[in-house]
Amino acid sequence: MQNPIGVFDSGYGGLTVLKEIVNKLPQYDYIYLGDNARSPYGNRSFETVYHYTLQCVEWFFKQGCSLVILACNTASAKALRTIQQNDLPKIAPGKRVLGVIRPTTEIIGNFSETGSVGILATNGTVASLSYPVEIAKFFPQLKVYQEACPMWVPLVENNEYESHGADYFIKKNLHSLFEKGEKIDVVLLACTHYPLLKEKIGEHLPVTVKLLSQGEIVAESLVDYLLRHSEIEEQCSKNGNRVFYTTDATEDFDNHATIFFGEAIQSTHLDLDSQ
Ligand code: DGL
Repeated sequence: MQNPIGVFDSGYGGLTVLKEIVNKLPQYDYIYLGDNARSPYGNRSFETVYHYTLQCVEWFFKQGCSLVILACNTASAKALRTIQQNDLPKIAPGKRVLGVIRPTTEIIGNFSETGSVGILATNGTVASLSYPVEIAKFFPQLKVYQEACPMWVPLVENNEYESHGADYFIKKNLHSLFEKGEKIDVVLLACTHYPLLKEKIGEHLPVTVKLLSQGEIVAESLVDYLLRHSEIEEQCSKNGNRVFYTTDATEDFDNHATIFFGEAIQSTHLDLDSQ
């Protein structure tokens, strides 16, 4: 592929975003990389997530990408800004890396009537404070409550997302979130793995609470970005191709990926150390 749009996640989660992007923008070529061998990123340090993410972004650039989307909140929270501000000017000034946090924080306040929103995310995303800080720029009055849900990614990655164990941890985390902010009327799934738990989460939420996931929001925002940045858009190749890479076993990836992406996938193994 000449110049595909790169889509990155620590594992499978970014496929929930890619699915929505492909729905809205099927004409482009896409290359997906899941760093499954080193996932989850959620409990890793800033330095580690930054180092891993940068290594993957450089790989995307070598594949010819002019635009890379970090379809991972943890990588967006911990690595994106440094990559945009320090690395890109040095290694690839004409290329762009975008995340999933900004598009979500720009609009989240529009969904709330009570002025209180809840953010469900990994430990890393919560600790980075990216959501409260970014939301305050667009909706300074909005009250933002966060809850780290460290068990949710392992539940999803281990195919336990429909189990009673999943109910237990969902109830536990939602209870804790609503204890912090009882007026919350919008809950954001601020981790790209969580859409697989959406139905279950919905069952444990009051009917008056809106549950948002990011796929469509990010896809809409990409449509808008490409319209506004013709210098990048013109470089992206448009043959409707999609290829998938994983840093771990392809068989596992292909089995899981079907659930996340909604169609069968045949991935290729990538050994980042040999790059
Ligand atoms: N899917 C990633 C996110 O959106 C996190 C999963 C992980 O912990 O690696 O935050």
